[in-house]
Amino acid sequence: MAKVKTAFFCKSCGYQASKWMGRCPSCGEWNTFEEEVMQREVSPIAAAGGSGFLHSRPAAPVLVSEISVNSNQQRIDSGSVEFNRVLGGGIVPGSLVLLGGEPGIGKSTLMLQIALRMQGQKILYVSGEESEQQLKMRADRLGFSNEVTCFILTETNTQQLFQHIEKVQPDIVVIDSIQTLHTDVIDSSAGSISQIRETASELLRFAKATQVPVFLIGHITKDGSLAGPKILEHMVDTVLQFEGDRNYGYRLVRAVKNRFGSTSELGIFEMQNNGLREVSNPSEILISQRDENISGIAIAATIEGLRPMLIETQALVGSSAAYGTPQRSATGFDFRRMSMLLAVLEKKCGFRLGPKDIFLNIAGGLKVDDPAIDLAIVASVLSSNEDVAIDAKDCFAAEIGLSGEIRPVSRIDQRIAEAEKLGFRRIFTSKYNLKGVKPGNIEIVPLNGIGELYQKLFI
Ligand code: TYD
Ligand code: MG
Repeated sequence: MAKVKTAFFCKSCGYQASKWMGRCPSCGEWNTFEEEVMQREVSPIAAAGGSGFLHSRPAAPVLVSEISVNSNQQRIDSGSVEFNRVLGGGIVPGSLVLLGGEPGIGKSTLMLQIALRMQGQKILYVSGEESEQQLKMRADRLGFSNEVTCFILTETNTQQLFQHIEKVQPDIVVIDSIQTLHTDVIDSSAGSISQIRETASELLRFAKATQVPVFLIGHITKDGSLAGPKILEHMVDTVLQFEGDRNYGYRLVRAVKNRFGSTSELGIFEMQNNGLREVSNPSEILISQRDENISGIAIAATIEGLRPMLIETQALVGSSAAYGTPQRSATGFDFRRMSMLLAVLEKKCGFRLGPKDIFLNIAGGLKVDDPAIDLAIVASVLSSNEDVAIDAKDCFAAEIGLSGEIRPVSRIDQRIAEAEKLGFRRIFTSKYNLKGVKPGNIEIVPLNGIGELYQKLFI
């Protein structure tokens, strides 16, 4: 009898070892090793083949100038402006794209919706998670026209899957999800590291050989890492992360890695009863409507990816702590960064905030890490502390340093243009940020320090 070959894999990062270890030498996690059966001695199905692309051709070196690129290999329009944007301008033929996200965030909804709205492409939507009836119900909910050529397949075995692919000859393949697929070549159960690795590499070979783009949906664990699919990150061309706050309808698709476009590109959707709606002007929904002037609100001119966005920051400064220790909390903003900004206000600018409760919130359930939001955070804290409202037509874009200096931020011209477009009258920024900025209809207020900001806003 052939000896069964096994190996140990780290569940967290996919590191492979020949023996069990308590701590993974690659990612440093404890107790993550699991034994899995590796390749069989001879795999009858793999040997029989059936699908030509599963066997790689021998490669030979070619001069770069002699490689022919098909001129009709243009990007395929996905039918969604936001989705095209994160992909870097459309779907690249032969690309392997991983869409990761927590369960229930809307990955299946997004991919099915794209499959149902794409014009003139034959799509094969492979689901190992839902039945045909369930998918039909979802499709009815999303709405589709009868001209769409979207085939649904509920199959989890890759050898069977490739046979169906040969029959259907799809232009695009969607796999929901990679954790449900299994290949006969490997003995371990679906969802194990070796299965994920092997099924993904079969799909990779298929995509490269046939130029058919393949989308893989992958579930991520609670701590935010792609479970198992971490090992896929280096294999695939593009990694998209689907995120959002369950309490809000907004969903963000972020490119974490993209061989064919810029990373940190962002697509914004809103989850509705009949699927995901594209949000083409995020600033309008991220700034809450208000009739009267309320203290503690400041608008930040931020940039997410390549896209300028005006975002509302809200602060509440309590008169003094009700109990011994003052309470601090930040939603949508890094807590340590908030502590740093408050320490700067206290130490460098003499505001007595130490004993007060302070709560910060970014409207719309967004998480922002653009440093240009600092100035708006400080302005909203000061506004709440003074109980004086900031003019609704003012916005802010600057980083704040440890000594209280107001520092320039990148792409100020785009921020100014967006603020101007949305009808803001003044934008506060660093005095070092004025180089090359053309004067427009919006007044640019250059600042030296936080003291000057305070004077201009509240005195
Ligand atoms: P789903 O796409 O199944 O999530 P995933 O594949 O990431 O696990 O759906 C997520 C949620 O979206 C589900 O709780 C119901 C909701 N939803 C809507 O609000 N509107 C819709 O039109 C659809 C199809 C789903
Ligand atoms: Mg799903």
